[in-house]
Amino acid sequence: MSEHIQSHHADGVLTLTLARADKKNAMTDAMYGALADALSAAERDNTVRVVLLRAEGDMFSAGNDIGEFASIAMSGGKSNKGDAERNVVRFLHALASATRPLVAAVQGRAVGIGTTMLLHCDFVLLADNAQLSTPFVNLALVPEAASSLLMPARLGHVRAFEMFALGDAVSAESALAWGLANRVVPLYQLGTEAQAIAARLARQPLGALTETKRLMRDAELLKQQMDAESACFARRLQSPEAHEAFRAFADRRPPNFNAVAH
Ligand code: COA
Repeated sequence: MSEHIQSHHADGVLTLTLARADKKNAMTDAMYGALADALSAAERDNTVRVVLLRAEGDMFSAGNDIGEFASIAMSGGKSNKGDAERNVVRFLHALASATRPLVAAVQGRAVGIGTTMLLHCDFVLLADNAQLSTPFVNLALVPEAASSLLMPARLGHVRAFEMFALGDAVSAESALAWGLANRVVPLYQLGTEAQAIAARLARQPLGALTETKRLMRDAELLKQQMDAESACFARRLQSPEAHEAFRAFADRRPPNFNAVAH
């Protein structure tokens, strides 16, 4: 388990905590690996009835670690792992295949995969200060985690396109109205409310819950969409536009896409 993912299992609830608050819980390869392992192990453990995803610090997640994006881009995308073995792919597939109910508790910003992972959660609680954003295009990238399918299905094309294309944050109130979340609660109540929902779900009959979830989602279709997105994402990582976006983030300046080829 990565030092930046904490795991706690009690009373049927497996709580997985993003614990890299000093870097705003930006997601590293090691964190994806630890989450993938934990979700896979949960599938084999009948004492896990619900998985609760939460985060330490003032925000849920700043999305993928941009330094790691830049390293992959600089290495020309070469990896000694096959696509299916990459930790991020294992994590995304584990989300798509999860049979246990997934509950998420989100405070502050949820950027990129911090938001797209919520599309795979079955019960989403937002603190009143939550802000959801998917600025893939701002980084010259494309949506992932089957969000190119799930986001328009959830919000309709025009809202989903705006979220992807402009990358602006959506408030907790709008996210609730648009069907991205079940509840908005005061920040100080987020932990206890999420625990209460997870505990309630853990008391429900697990067989009926998992069958209900299976009937509501097509895991194979989601994985196919993820794989199609990943292929496009990998190409975009090598683009001059993306290199400019990563340099700009490191230099703490706005990118200038007019000066580079696409
Ligand atoms: N990848 C790597 N490091 C990140 C990061 C990311 N996605 N997001 C934040 N960090 C790091 C910062 O570099 C900084 O590190 P430092 O203290 O060593 O300088 C630290 O986390 C704190 O971030 P900071 O930007 O100072 O916090 P903030 O509260 O002012 O802003 C964000 C928070 C999330 C708005 C801002 O960090 C941001 O825009 N991050 C990038 C989000 C993004 O585009 N993610 C990819 C989506 S596909």
